Amino acid sequence: MAEVCAYNFHAAIPPRSIALKLTHLLTIVALLAASPLTHAQLEGGKFVAQPVQHPIAAIQDTETPAQKDARMEWFREARFGMFIHWGLYSIPAGTWDGKQIPSIGEWIMNNASIPVADYKNLATQFNPTGFNAHDIVALAKSAGMKYIVITAKHHDGFAMFDSKANSFNIVAATPFHRDPLRELADEARKQGLKLGFYYSQDQDWTAPGASAMKTGRHDLPTHHWDKAQDGDFDTYLHTKAIPQIKELLTNYGDFPTVVWFDTPTGNMTPARAAEIVALLNQHPNLIWNNRLGGGYKGDTETPEQYIPPQGFPGRDWESCMTMNDTWGFKSYDTNFKSAETLLRNLIDIASKGGNYLLNIGPDSHGVVPPAEADRLRAMGAWLAVNGAAIYGTQPTLFGPEAGAFSATEKDKKGAPKFIPTWDWRSTTRPDRIYITLFAWPTRAFHLDKLPRKVTHAYLLADSAHTPLKLTQTGDALDVQLPAKPLDPVATVLVLETTRF
Ligand code: GLC
Repeated sequence: MAEVCAYNFHAAIPPRSIALKLTHLLTIVALLAASPLTHAQLEGGKFVAQPVQHPIAAIQDTETPAQKDARMEWFREARFGMFIHWGLYSIPAGTWDGKQIPSIGEWIMNNASIPVADYKNLATQFNPTGFNAHDIVALAKSAGMKYIVITAKHHDGFAMFDSKANSFNIVAATPFHRDPLRELADEARKQGLKLGFYYSQDQDWTAPGASAMKTGRHDLPTHHWDKAQDGDFDTYLHTKAIPQIKELLTNYGDFPTVVWFDTPTGNMTPARAAEIVALLNQHPNLIWNNRLGGGYKGDTETPEQYIPPQGFPGRDWESCMTMNDTWGFKSYDTNFKSAETLLRNLIDIASKGGNYLLNIGPDSHGVVPPAEADRLRAMGAWLAVNGAAIYGTQPTLFGPEAGAFSATEKDKKGAPKFIPTWDWRSTTRPDRIYITLFAWPTRAFHLDKLPRKVTHAYLLADSAHTPLKLTQTGDALDVQLPAKPLDPVATVLVLETTRF
């Protein structure tokens, strides 16, 4: 789909004056922003770009490339973050009225058509005294993660934070009376991680007038299953969503560093989304994703449960993924990916210039399932040795090592299917090429079309950095490797090169 980029409205303005002038410019930009942009809208589960105009310019429309680079710097360095889906849905944990409800756990209210009053009643039982912000942040840190994004409010409408705007929240409506977001913010600050908030701005199944997406037999046009959900969308937006987004943006000091929107429907019109953008614009360091709706592209592409074959050249991106088959805790979902698969995913993503936002789903006591914590620690152990090949690196200089599009097989959309290969991946720095080997070559590692001169080669996990014998003929390279890899999953070969 053709995409017309926003003009650099502020290009001629020196950076320091931008924040001051932004509010004045919003009005002017509103009048001038006549260039067609794109409209990311959820259609049949897919985000599809459609031409649209921005009623209020967002920071991405107005900042210079240098300002954007500065804003995105920590995110690009980070490569690995923790997603936390946690809410009332961790109580039923996938079972309602004695029946196991298929699909993702945090959708149980919608999937089982649970009446609003019954669902809201779960709050009276929610007392997750096992929640320990210190331990969760420490777990993320031990996994080598650099940031956390937690569900402040998911589609069920329950706020996991102290909200004066709406009383259906963890402080006011449960016996727990604590604000986990505040506790996480304090801990993240202490332990040096960033904290972001997921907020379901459009779907809210317990607030009258808000959206619900279709599952099962919920009828058009609202897809509601309970009269209590009927009402006026703008009332919802102005009395709940916008006031709560304001609370989240202002009550947690330097956090959130990320706002993670989700599932925009047709209700998230450009004009409505613009009201949210006006709030976001007041926080010039904030990063927000491409799921606000109303035509705003945000900062990040958010491939869900997959790794794009070739990344998103020219865009920042973050693959979000579950470890099993659910985001919110389900007691019986034990279909966990192995630590090896998760680690390969991270290495694959880094080689394509993206971040990995890997989910945990704490249970109704606030405890992280051991199967998830174990996997995170295994990833962290590898990163503690080999992190230099991941954090702050640039994508591969090669490409074909990731796999190829099949000449015969098609994907669900009918496009040629990408068949990944898992021999090795690569990342780069101006004076280094990292080759992360999954399959161990029998004698030498061979590379063609190497665009730089290699001066030294060694294995990253070898603390002595013992030089490996290398031969470079033209742009072809051979490196003699020891008989065995240093790590059963992934061993990093470092090529020191002339600066690029
Ligand atoms: C989806 C789901 C949601 C989940 C999200 C994570 O869009 O609606 O439950 O939070 O993906 O990316």
